[in-house]
This record gives sequence, C-alpha cells and structure tokens, in this order.
Amino acid sequence: MSTASSTDLQGKRIVLGLTGGIACYKAAELTRALVKAGASVQVVMTEAAEQFITPVTMQALSTRPVFTSQWDAREANNMAHINLTREADAVLIAPASADFIARLVQGRADDLLSLLCLARPIANCPLLVAPAMNREMWAHPATQRNIAQLRADGATVLGPGNGDQACGEIGDGRMLEPLELLEDVVSFFAPKRLRGQRLLITAGPTFEPIDPVRGITNRSSGKMGFAIARAAHEAGAEVTLVAGPVHLPTPRGVRRIDVQTAQQMFDAVLPLAAQHGVFVATAAVADWRPASLSDHKIKKNGSKVAPTFELTENADILAAVAKLPDRPFCVGFAAESHDLSKHAREKLQRKNVPLIVGNLGPATFGRDDNALLLVDAQGERQLPHADKLTLARTLVDEIAARLSSSNSTPRTA
Ligand code: CTP
Repeated sequence: MSTASSTDLQGKRIVLGLTGGIACYKAAELTRALVKAGASVQVVMTEAAEQFITPVTMQALSTRPVFTSQWDAREANNMAHINLTREADAVLIAPASADFIARLVQGRADDLLSLLCLARPIANCPLLVAPAMNREMWAHPATQRNIAQLRADGATVLGPGNGDQACGEIGDGRMLEPLELLEDVVSFFAPKRLRGQRLLITAGPTFEPIDPVRGITNRSSGKMGFAIARAAHEAGAEVTLVAGPVHLPTPRGVRRIDVQTAQQMFDAVLPLAAQHGVFVATAAVADWRPASLSDHKIKKNGSKVAPTFELTENADILAAVAKLPDRPFCVGFAAESHDLSKHAREKLQRKNVPLIVGNLGPATFGRDDNALLLVDAQGERQLPHADKLTLARTLVDEIAARLSSSNSTPRTA
C-alpha cells in the first residue's frame, strides 16, 4: 500500500472514539498514523474501552488529554458532548463494538461518546464507523440490521476486515488494519472528481517466459500505476487494475486482475475496455516475447554455445484499445531514456490517444518519486518531482478536467 504523506489529512480535526473491544490495541497505531498524516486527533473513550487500553497511551500518542466522561469538568461550560464536535471534521469510531453500534442506532446518549455522536451537527461532522467484533456477532441479523440502519442514517461504515480473530475463529468482523483505515479516511475526504466514472488501468512489467524457470521482463515496479488506481478510487471512480507480476498491495476498494504475460494483459484488457470511460496504460509491456516456449529448462549440457531465441512482437494493448469503436478516454505512458518531449509527442500521434504522460524510465523505475510531462494536442505541462501518489492525484485531476470539458457521459456498470 502506498502510505499517506504528511499532508494527506493536513488541517483535519478528527474525534477518534474508542469502544470496548480487543481491537483497541490497533487504535494506538491508528492515532499515530492519523497524526503523521497531518490530522489533529481528539480521543474519546468509553468505560469499556478503558479495559483494553489506557487513556495515558492515547493521550501520549494524540498529544491531547483524553475525554472519558460526560461529567468531565475541564470544559468551561461542562459540555464536552457539544464542544468536541463543533470544530471537528469527522467522528471516527474505531473500534466500534456491536453494542456501541446498537446504541448509535437507537440514538442512546448515556455516555460521553454516544452522547456526542447524537449531539454532533450531522451536516458538518460526518460519522465513520469501523466495526470490530467476533464473526458470529457480525453475522447476527441484529448487527446486520443495525449496520443497514446506521448507513441509512448517513454513517460511513469502514470494513470490517476478514481473517484471524482474537477469539481464535476466522471470518468477517475484525477491525481494518490502521493503515487501511487511514487510506479509507483519506479517501473519504478527497474531492470526488471522478464520481460515476469507471477507470481501467494497466500496471507493472510483463513477464515473457523462455522456459519454466526463465523469462524476459523489465524493471518497472508498478508503483505509478498502483498510485493512479488509488488516486482514482479516492476521487470516487470504480477502478479495475490489471497488474503484471509485482509485489504491491492492492489499493483499497480497487478490483485487481493479476496477469503475467503481455498476451494475458491484452486478453484481460480488451473485453473490459469498452465498459470503462477511461483507460490508463502505465504498464511497461514487453514489446517482444520468445517465439516458442521450451517445456523444459534449457540446459547447458556442457555446451559453451549460448542458446539463441527467435522473438515475436507482442500486440500493442493501448493502440488496440484506442482503435475500438466505443473507445474510452485513453491515457498512454512513455518511458524514455532521452528526448522525452519528442518521443512522447510521437507516441501521441502513433497511438492516436488524447494524452501521453512522459517520464524518464531509468530515473524512476522502482522509486517512490518521479517527474512527469503531460503531452496533448494543446501543448505540454511539467509535473515536477514529487512522490508518485502526489503525481497520481494531479494526473487524476487532469483526466477529470478533460472528461468534464469534453462533456463525457460517465460509463457505469
Ligand atoms: N503499450 C501497450 N502495449 C504494448 C506496448 C506498449 O499498451 N505492447 C503502452 C504502454 O503501457 C504505454 C505506451 O503504450 O502506455 C507506450 O509504451 P512504450 O513502451 O513507451 O512505447 P512503445 O510503443 O513500446 O515504443 P518504444 O518501445 O519504441 O518506445
């Protein structure tokens, strides 16, 4: 997962509510992550939460005194339940126990946290809830009914995740990991410039096998394509990511299709392309593949003569998508070693696409930062050196601006 930068939540004021559950141990890490991303965090804990983690820990990590009681006399007007949400940008309940969710749904107000949720100005202070409970509790019709009602009341439910549970069982109900929650919170606040759009993205290298143990590939890490997938999801798009062999976690909310070879990438992309409004080809697709694949490992067998291979050309995925009658808005990448502007403009014409994003391949492969050159029929725009997620967000804004200026109708499912 691309981690958040120190400005992702700059200026955001978050009330972080902890309720009783073993996942409280993750709230410590979550607080650090939110603070590191630039948010100010005001922790409020229920009595049950204090059984799992102390206010001392939460105060140290949030650098603010923790509130635990509606009778806390530190507030001059003795109305912590009002004051705490009036300046807040969101209330995030993590972990949210089954019992606390039930109390939210009923509009109960018998402790500070439920009271402030009820008393918060709904229009300005959204409620985000990260459930954490045993899988049977999560699956119970009462909890499912409560979750549906919570959503109907305007809350955003984050997760839950799936996997090993503290009780030893395995299933749905565990709280999302702190960095997953951070990614969801950052997404929640992002402007939804691509709402209703569907984006198809290729990323990473391809791997063209020579024999069962060897192959031809390249140094692309896939980081740029994954960052674009994340940025597009943040901007409200439905995103499909067709990824070559890379070891990167899938951005939250993104549908991923893994492939190895250029032909597999082509076969995955072509049938999907016309259902998407935008196609972004960041993959470093191998131009050539061995004409034949050896079934067995090619052995030296004492020979000093190096084997030779015949190569055959791979189909150009981007050019094929750009030729479709109902083609999406196509964005190509040009990874060059020199003469970036010249090569990028040449690709704009050769591939017949409206936008090419140029970058210097050797300077960026595997790195977390990059610099881009956007080339279209109107001219060029430099995006100076920055981390790939920042560049991806700017590129997504550029794509959104072009879609709205061409008055494109979003292609939805
Ligand atoms: N591309 C593709 N399918 C291919 C080759 C390239 O979809 N078989 C896409 C890439 O994802 C990128 C763009 O085409 O968006 C340009 O790729 P690049 O490798 O820079 O250009 P090539 O067309 O391969 O030209 P050259 O190797 O001569 O630079």
